Amino acid sequence: MAGIVELADMADIHYVRQGEPLGLGHAVSVARKHVGDEPFVVMLGDDIMVDDSTVLTGMIDAYQQHGSSVVALMEVPHDEIGSYGCAAVDEPEGTLRRITAIVEKPDPADAPSNLAVMGRYLFTPTIFDLLEKLEPGVGGELQLTDAISDLLEVESVYGYVFSDGRFDIGKKIDYLRATVELALKRKDLRDDFLEVLRDVATREDLS
Ligand code: G1P
Repeated sequence: MAGIVELADMADIHYVRQGEPLGLGHAVSVARKHVGDEPFVVMLGDDIMVDDSTVLTGMIDAYQQHGSSVVALMEVPHDEIGSYGCAAVDEPEGTLRRITAIVEKPDPADAPSNLAVMGRYLFTPTIFDLLEKLEPGVGGELQLTDAISDLLEVESVYGYVFSDGRFDIGKKIDYLRATVELALKRKDLRDDFLEVLRDVATREDLS
């Protein structure tokens, strides 16, 4: 009960239903009425960041500095880039780099870089007009990445590059790893949880 009261003090929660699974671009577009004519953040629930506050704060600072949309990017091994949105940028180094091109789930042979889009985005409301005109892309879905590519034609878009602390809990093994690692980082759980892990790891009936 205490947890519920605290959450209610922190934020008002509203939700809108996507209704049909037409893709991430469509999912964002259904929030248009709720968001209105404001910049807003998209956070994908299956991308968990250990240091979420730093990535998001950095992205919001970048928006305040440039007034532009910002996409979280992380370098991934070349053979994994085909699982992500992939961005080409104008600088080889630095946390904030201007995006010059972006493509959804490229064939690694054609990928413009190894910089993968992670599930944190800050958008100017311009994205909504572009989402409405979007045609289906990879997998027949309305792809948010394609709308970002269209956004590049009319506004600057920055990549906020970070390097670690991200779990893809859409993969079962990453979900399990995230649960264990994040629990071990908590002082209130660490000792008891270590004991549970040792017990489970040495149990003969589980081997
Ligand atoms: C979505 C996006 C992709 C992004 C990824 C991050 O893909 O379409 O651009 O890189 O999230 O997790 P999905 O994981 O839904 O296939």
